[in-house]
Amino acid sequence: MSRIAYVNGRYLPHGEAAVSIEDRGYQFADGVYEVCEVREGKLVDEPRHMARLDRSLKELRMARPMSARALARVLRETVRRNRVRDGIVYLQVTRGVAPRDFPFPASGTRPSLVVTARSHDRARLEKQAEGGIAVVTVPDIRWQRVDIKSVALLPNVLAKQAARDQGAREAWMVDPEGRVTEGASSNAWIVTRDGVLITRPLDTGILPGITRSVVIDELKAKGLKVEERPFTVEEAYAAREAFVTSASQIVMPVVSIDGRPVGGGKPGPVTASLRGAYHQHADIR
Ligand code: PDD
Repeated sequence: MSRIAYVNGRYLPHGEAAVSIEDRGYQFADGVYEVCEVREGKLVDEPRHMARLDRSLKELRMARPMSARALARVLRETVRRNRVRDGIVYLQVTRGVAPRDFPFPASGTRPSLVVTARSHDRARLEKQAEGGIAVVTVPDIRWQRVDIKSVALLPNVLAKQAARDQGAREAWMVDPEGRVTEGASSNAWIVTRDGVLITRPLDTGILPGITRSVVIDELKAKGLKVEERPFTVEEAYAAREAFVTSASQIVMPVVSIDGRPVGGGKPGPVTASLRGAYHQHADIR
């Protein structure tokens, strides 16, 4: 079955789906995106993802491509046409097509919208979570507005490739003070030897992850304390547990950092319980 993409008003097989070479997403990475988990054919945490999309658009003074209702329909239709039961739905909005010139194009230029969906093997992901993943640390060389979910992801691409080159699945980016900001495509967490959960606060060099926010709600519901503060690479090496959060990985245990085992090289109980109960706290519709 050919995969189907939604592109500016039409549903097309991927082979025929295309945007203009003068799309500002292609020319300038002048666009934003969202990735939402699909579980049993439903969208996970959609309202929070849509709220973040609105914020990203607003911060970049970019118009919405369509109403929230219409977008909700397109997301579901793309999921349906690709017969995705478990997987992800991806949406990208750019500032539209215009002759290549740096300032914003003429008002009235229509934003471009692309939506794709893809299945993942849930059993395989669960297996991966049982073993955990390795991460490596790299310098964070990104710009200062990483709170906007922009498609300008070249530093993240390089970080992820550095991880792959070293046999790891994720890279943790590190600020000039030696503190972890976040993963190349996830938020970073540790559990200290005293059992305290730590993750970097918002507004200081991270994307406000939706999974991160739901996990914080989950911790509160469980009566567990979370400290939102930066942590150093040294603290991470010494941690009892570590994990990452993202829409595609949910809560994924980290079992080694720069080749040093974390928590004896096995996923820890706090991480496993947060992963196990995640979808009870998520909004699935
Ligand atoms: N990545 N930090 C970065 C840099 C990310 O790219 C992501 C998500 C996150 C986690 O955010 P959320 O919990 O909302 O998925 C944190 C997505 C999944 C991606 O780029 O594929």
